[in-house]
Amino acid sequence: MPTIAILPGDGIGPEVTDQAVRVIEKLNELFDAQFTTELQPVGGAAYEMHGHPLPESTLSLAKSADAILLGAVGGPKWEAIDRQLRPEKALLGLRSELDLFSNLRPAILFPELADASTLKPEVVSGLDIMIVRELTGGIYFGGPRAIEGEAGNRKGYNTMVYTEPEIERIAHSAFRMAMQRDKRLCSVDKANVLEVSELWREVVIEVGKSYPEVELSHMYIDNACMQLVRAPKQFDVIVTTNMFGDILSDAASMLTGSIGMLPSASLDSNGKGMYEPVHGSAPDIAGQGKANPLATILSVAMMMRSTFANEQCAAAIEAAVKQTLADGIRTGDIAASGEKIVSTVEMGSAVVERLIG
Ligand code: IPM
Ligand code: MG
Repeated sequence: MPTIAILPGDGIGPEVTDQAVRVIEKLNELFDAQFTTELQPVGGAAYEMHGHPLPESTLSLAKSADAILLGAVGGPKWEAIDRQLRPEKALLGLRSELDLFSNLRPAILFPELADASTLKPEVVSGLDIMIVRELTGGIYFGGPRAIEGEAGNRKGYNTMVYTEPEIERIAHSAFRMAMQRDKRLCSVDKANVLEVSELWREVVIEVGKSYPEVELSHMYIDNACMQLVRAPKQFDVIVTTNMFGDILSDAASMLTGSIGMLPSASLDSNGKGMYEPVHGSAPDIAGQGKANPLATILSVAMMMRSTFANEQCAAAIEAAVKQTLADGIRTGDIAASGEKIVSTVEMGSAVVERLIG
C-alpha cells in the first residue's frame, strides 16, 4: 500500500493539509486506491514538541514514505531562535536528505480568476509557465559559508557552487519537461558576471544537444525578472539555479494573482517527491478557517501524476477543482469584492463533493 507522509507544519499548514487528506480518502473510496497517510510534525511545530524542526521521527517517515505532502513551515514565533533550529531549516534538510533536486513550480492563470492578477488581463490571460528550479545546490548549500571576525569588522560569506553533474541532471529534468509542453526552454543565469553561471550555461547547451526538438534560449536573471512582468507569456519552461529560482518563482506566482492556487513538486531522480503549496504559513490568518486549501489539493494531483503515475486520480482532482471554481466557490484570497466567501473546510467539502469516479 502506498504511504503518503503528511507533514502539516505551521500556520495555515495543518488546516490546508487536513482538506488534502479528505481528498485522498475520497480517492480511496472512488477509485479503490489504497493510499495510507501518516502524520508527523515539521518546522516550528516539531521544534515545540521535540526541540528540533526536523526530528528523526519525521525524517525517517519522510524517507520511508512513497511521497510527502507538506503544508508550510515558519512563523514569527521562531524567527529569533538559532539559525540551525529555525523552521526553514526543516525544509532545507528534507530537500538535501532526500536529494529532491528538481523543483517544479507551475504558474498558471485559472481563467475563472483572471481578475485576480495585478497585471492587465491581456498580459496574463492564458498564462502557463513552468519554472524548474535546482533545489539542492548553489548558494543555499555551498561552502565555505560563515560570519566571522571581530565585532565591528566581521565578514559574512556564502559560496555559489555547481558541479557539472548537478547542472546536467537539472537540465535533463527541464528538457524532459519542455518535451511534454511547448518545447521551449529558457535557462536563466548571470553568465556575464559569474563563473558558476558560465559553467551552467555551457553544460545546459551540451545537454540540449540530446533534445534537438527543444528550442533553447538563455537570459540573465535581471532581464528575466523584467521580462517576467513585462511579457510573461513568452516563457514556456524556465530552468535556473536554487536562488534565482527562489526569486523568479515568487514573482511568477504573483502574476497569477492567486498564490493560494499554486502547487509545487520537489523530485529526486526516481520520481519520489515532496509536494507542497507555493504559499507560505500565512501566520496572520492561521487557525481562522480563512486559508485556501486548493494549492495543497492541487499538490496532491501533482503527486498522483508524478510519483504514482496515476493520471486517473490526478485528472479527477483537477476536474473537481475546476468545477468548484466554475460554481463560484471562493475563499477570501480569490473572491472578488462582494462575492460570498467560504471557509477552508467548506472549500475542502466543495472539492470532495465534486470528485467523481
Ligand atoms: C521557498 C522558500 C524557501 C526557500 C525558504 C522558506 C527556505 O522561500 O521554498 O521558495 O528559500 O527555498
Ligand atoms: Mg521562496
